[in-house]
Amino acid sequence: MNSFETIGREYRFFQANSSESTRTIEKIESLLRRRPVPARVLDFGGGDGSFFRALLRQKSLLSQAVKNGSCRVSLVEPSRAHRERARASFPGLMTRARLSKRTVGFDLILANHVIYYLDDPEETIRRLQRLLNPGGMLLVTMARSRENALTGYWVGIFSDLGWEMPFVRAEDLRKAWNGFRRYPIRSRVRFSDTPANRFMLSRFVLGRWFDRVERALGRKELLERWGSHRKSGELQLTLVDDLYCFHRSGARLKQRSH
Ligand SMILES: C[S@@+](CC[C@H](N)C(=O)[O-])C[C@H]1O[C@@H](n2cnc3c(N)ncnc32)[C@H](O)[C@@H]1O
Repeated sequence: MNSFETIGREYRFFQANSSESTRTIEKIESLLRRRPVPARVLDFGGGDGSFFRALLRQKSLLSQAVKNGSCRVSLVEPSRAHRERARASFPGLMTRARLSKRTVGFDLILANHVIYYLDDPEETIRRLQRLLNPGGMLLVTMARSRENALTGYWVGIFSDLGWEMPFVRAEDLRKAWNGFRRYPIRSRVRFSDTPANRFMLSRFVLGRWFDRVERALGRKELLERWGSHRKSGELQLTLVDDLYCFHRSGARLKQRSH
């Protein structure tokens, strides 16, 4: 089972309470506005499609193009449960468990908070770049490890335990970012500060590592580590991400009129 199926509930809890994706969507929208409307889009590691659906809820040429069928959307996602949920709420969505030889030719590729989990992150980023049509754009979002409260939680725990960091950090990939522009995205998430919410956040962030880390540190310690974000009875998490943007050079797509 893909590790994200085991924390599906936590993932949805975070999505429902977070403005992180709203800020990212605003930035993506502003980048898309300056470009021709994509005819083919790939959402890589797209989860249950909720991020992409949120992008389409904006009034934009992309939303219109998806609605009228002039833009086709594919989602690559290893979790079968996520793929099924994505297809159920997005008629016409094409889904695959992984990139294959038949996954080719996109004008826009999104990889929103996915790279942390890959075994071969640099190779995958290069592959996504190659999948772009001339004039296409690849957008990769990653947290700034220490400035983002969620990834800061990982970094603190794994370094205190003296364990090798099991998640890929943006700074591990310096070479991969050649040719990318980087846009910072700041947001703040607030949860009421309850043990249940702290537990949910810990499971969401640690994923398949949760049980091992809990055995090593104990649940009390895991929950206490959120304490530095406590303010007025709430947990207030500051999230700093970077949106990495790569344009493939070449003839631009013909501007479609709408
Ligand atoms: C934090 S979620 C982000 C989901 C979505 N992009 C969003 O922004 O809501 C990370 C996603 O990456 C997927 N993932 C994990 N390993 C992957 C891989 N090797 N290839 C593609 N996706 C992967 C997970 O299944 C999960 O859906």
